[in-house]
Amino acid sequence: MGQFYKKCDKYLRFGEPTLVKKTGIYPYFYQVCGKQNPVVQMDGNEVIMLGSNNYLGMASHPKVKEAAQRAIEEYGVGSTGSRLLNGTMEIHIELENRLAKFFGTEDCIVFSTGMQANLGAISSMLSEKDEWVLSDQQNHASIIDGIKLGNMSSHNKKIYQHNDMDDLEKCLKEIPKGKGLIVTDGVFSMEGDIVKLDVLVELAEKYDSGVYVDDAHSVGVIGPHGRGTAAHFDLVDKVGIIMGTFSKSFATIGGYIAANKAICNWIKHKARSFIFSASPPPANCATVLAVLDIIEKDESYRKNVLSVADRMRKGLKNLGYDVGDSSTAIVPLIVGERRKTMKFFKVLFENKPRGIFSNPVVHPATSKGGELIRSSYIATMTNEIVDEALHIFEDVGRKMKII
Ligand SMILES: Cc1ncc(COP(=O)(O)O)c(C=O)c1O
Repeated sequence: MGQFYKKCDKYLRFGEPTLVKKTGIYPYFYQVCGKQNPVVQMDGNEVIMLGSNNYLGMASHPKVKEAAQRAIEEYGVGSTGSRLLNGTMEIHIELENRLAKFFGTEDCIVFSTGMQANLGAISSMLSEKDEWVLSDQQNHASIIDGIKLGNMSSHNKKIYQHNDMDDLEKCLKEIPKGKGLIVTDGVFSMEGDIVKLDVLVELAEKYDSGVYVDDAHSVGVIGPHGRGTAAHFDLVDKVGIIMGTFSKSFATIGGYIAANKAICNWIKHKARSFIFSASPPPANCATVLAVLDIIEKDESYRKNVLSVADRMRKGLKNLGYDVGDSSTAIVPLIVGERRKTMKFFKVLFENKPRGIFSNPVVHPATSKGGELIRSSYIATMTNEIVDEALHIFEDVGRKMKII
């Protein structure tokens, strides 16, 4: 193994994870015991779960679990093949038709993960040398990697300042009209703020650009019945490509692209992560169908998660925390320093009798100096739990001089 063994061995002995473990504040790979509920057991601690993306609480909804079990009985546990060849089952088609109807698009295709959806869709769209991509500075890693896989030079990649429409316009002016694809998160995954889609779409029209919105954290949460960012702004017909994932509000795993027939046809014949990977197992598809059954009829889950997050956001602001521009189910607590963020996570986690599990987010997932604790909320959380969490944040934040 030569070089390959040596570099891994060196990293194991002296890499940052090992050094951080020695200081006792390593915050990753904690095990959740049992279900992803508002209060969970983790590594022997009872903690309030402010670190999951189970926004609607569907991960343990009885009807959703029942649907997944029924699908296993009916279709078996897996497809064992790629959609292109032998992995297309009737439940994939049923799900794609249902999602297209839900989002109000002509067509939809389902991937095995959201990461694969972004890798495959973005790289296949950016297939020519004379195309440009304009990407928000805080877009998710799967978008960044999808762009890297596209067939274009670094000259054709424009990264604009986060949600800064003036900077986006500056970038659009530098490229030929009709040759740009603007790619953005709908709800930004770390700070929970919403893209200024109304202005972005106006710019896209002015410069004849395509629009690609990643709705991983929007679907289920914003827009009527959780139809996502484009629906929230009533701009579904102006957003060319809507991407999303099943790993958050839909409480399973998988991803999708909702677009017109021509775009879906292009992606399903050209996206390598779609063609060369097995299709999602039937139970995942049945899970999403069951969640759709619920959220199409009942807005209470979506309303609850937004009101829980709102109560938290107001409470944290009153305590003196910097919670950025969030207005969704994600509320960041900006700490601004790497080690302090990890320490904050650890002290929150170990608080007794109950701690808080959250997500410490450090550079490169944030800007340097923008390190934060990412908290996220579940529709089934009660006000008592929220208030308990606020008390813990007050206590720990004061002790650590964060507030
Ligand atoms: C904005 C965004 N896009 C895409 C993904 C990838 O989704 P998946 O977990 O389905 O691979 C994530 C997951 O964290 C995300 O936050």
